[in-house]
Amino acid sequence: MTGARLLSVKGLSTEFRTDRGTVRAVDDVSFDLAAGETLAIVGESGSGKSVTALSVLRLIPTPPGRISSGEVLFEGRDLLKLDEREIRAIRGNRIAMIFQEPMSSLNPSLTVGLQIAEPVQLHRKAPWAAALDKAGELLERVRLPDARSRLSSYPHQFSGGMRQRAMIAMALACQPQLIIADEPTTALDVTVQAQILALLKELTRAANSALILITHDLGVVARYADRVCVMYGGRVAEMGPAREIYAHPRHPYTIGLMASVPRLDQEAGSRLVPIEGQPPDLSRLPPGCAFQPRCRFATERCRVERPPLVSTGPDHLSACHHHDRLGA
Ligand SMILES: Nc1ncnc2c1ncn2[C@@H]1O[C@H](COP(=O)(O)OP(=O)(O)O)[C@@H](O)[C@H]1O
Ligand SMILES: [Mg+2]
Repeated sequence: MTGARLLSVKGLSTEFRTDRGTVRAVDDVSFDLAAGETLAIVGESGSGKSVTALSVLRLIPTPPGRISSGEVLFEGRDLLKLDEREIRAIRGNRIAMIFQEPMSSLNPSLTVGLQIAEPVQLHRKAPWAAALDKAGELLERVRLPDARSRLSSYPHQFSGGMRQRAMIAMALACQPQLIIADEPTTALDVTVQAQILALLKELTRAANSALILITHDLGVVARYADRVCVMYGGRVAEMGPAREIYAHPRHPYTIGLMASVPRLDQEAGSRLVPIEGQPPDLSRLPPGCAFQPRCRFATERCRVERPPLVSTGPDHLSACHHHDRLGA
């Protein structure tokens, strides 16, 4: 970790009541984040990444959802214990969130300038003209072409990439300590994706904001994350420094995710190997390891005994019974 501890999630579990019973979408998840650090949360669709992020900000729809246990310590305070007014003062101010689909978080009937200036005015108690000027400056900082003249544009007049730039500007408006970006580039084409991620990384670093980058794409992680948390079936499968995870993955699921990622140094036409099988159905998880039905290393023990998350090296955790055999 690169600085003082900013966020400490401990034993977080979040459940949803469904017509197939109660499913635990996030099950005993713990992680720490230091000021200025970038943590990537990686996993296939349905692994509990968004529910983790929404739980941190207390944005889980209740019902059907409910945070059933855990602590979310942010700058020493448990966010799960704050009242609605206190948590609202933190959302968008100390912690900002960027979603996958900016259209769902931008108001289509208000100009982009107004939507960026409004939180600036609110949180900084700045006069309107100053807030609007700040909005223009923020749009310049996210390198929106003709930034100042775009203040009076509406979201639908922007391309997907431009909208995501506007979202980043909005997230940066109040100089948050933490930005949570949930698949911020999934809806964009590949070249725009890379530009947006590089921008997000550059700006969070410049502001010394911590970043939680949620992605299903382990390929993205290598260049942007300091640490990686791999999730499977609502649980942490593996966690550690990004370099270490790449060089010495200690969970078969992580190895599978890496094999399904295109690499820059890969010959054109060489084949990617997707992980066989389907992510688990949370309403009927197998008794042992959740990944076991898809795992080529699985043994009888994996079928009956759930692997605990154990230390496999400095700052490196794996929930695999066979983690010590995987390094070879
Ligand atoms: N509103 C909801 N109602 C019921 N179940 C939900 C709801 N949101 C999420 N879930 C459950 O949580 C699981 C994890 O969801 P999510 O965190 O969104 O996955 P992802 O890793 O793709 O972001 C889903 O597969 C689903 O079973
Ligand atoms: Mg998601």
